[in-house]
Amino acid sequence: TPERTLVLVKPDGVARGLVGEVITRLERKGLRLVAAELRTLTAETAETHYAEHRERPFFGSLVEFITSGPLMALVVEGPRAIEAFRALAGATDPVKAGPGTIRGDFALEVQNNIVHGSDSPESAAREIGLFFPDLG
Ligand code: CMP
Repeated sequence: TPERTLVLVKPDGVARGLVGEVITRLERKGLRLVAAELRTLTAETAETHYAEHRERPFFGSLVEFITSGPLMALVVEGPRAIEAFRALAGATDPVKAGPGTIRGDFALEVQNNIVHGSDSPESAAREIGLFFPDLG
């Protein structure tokens, strides 16, 4: 049974023209696009999306970054899509992400790490519901 995950090409990725690169990589892997929207988040949506990080010292900076310009929100589907996309993305810290991964190939800083992917089925359901409330 296919699984769905929320992928964000963050404002740094959009500004650097990496939307096509990210979509190419996930489609080449065999994952399928279900929904896509370019949008700029309000602080309220950003704080809801990243609620689990509210107490972290980087939370304010993270909200400022993620609302700083348009991002590309994607719903992606496939067998084990959550784990599959996280493997394509590489480690959260781009310096530790292997070459051949999105973060390993295109980023250097832990905040400006190009993409987000849901980390569990529960997160995926919550995040897809936040970004695409009309999706079943
Ligand atoms: P993401 O996978 O979207 O999940 C939370 C985000 O917070 C992460 O990617 C980074 O963009 C950011 N982040 C994580 N850790 C740090 C950190 N130590 N300092 C700044 N930003 C961070």
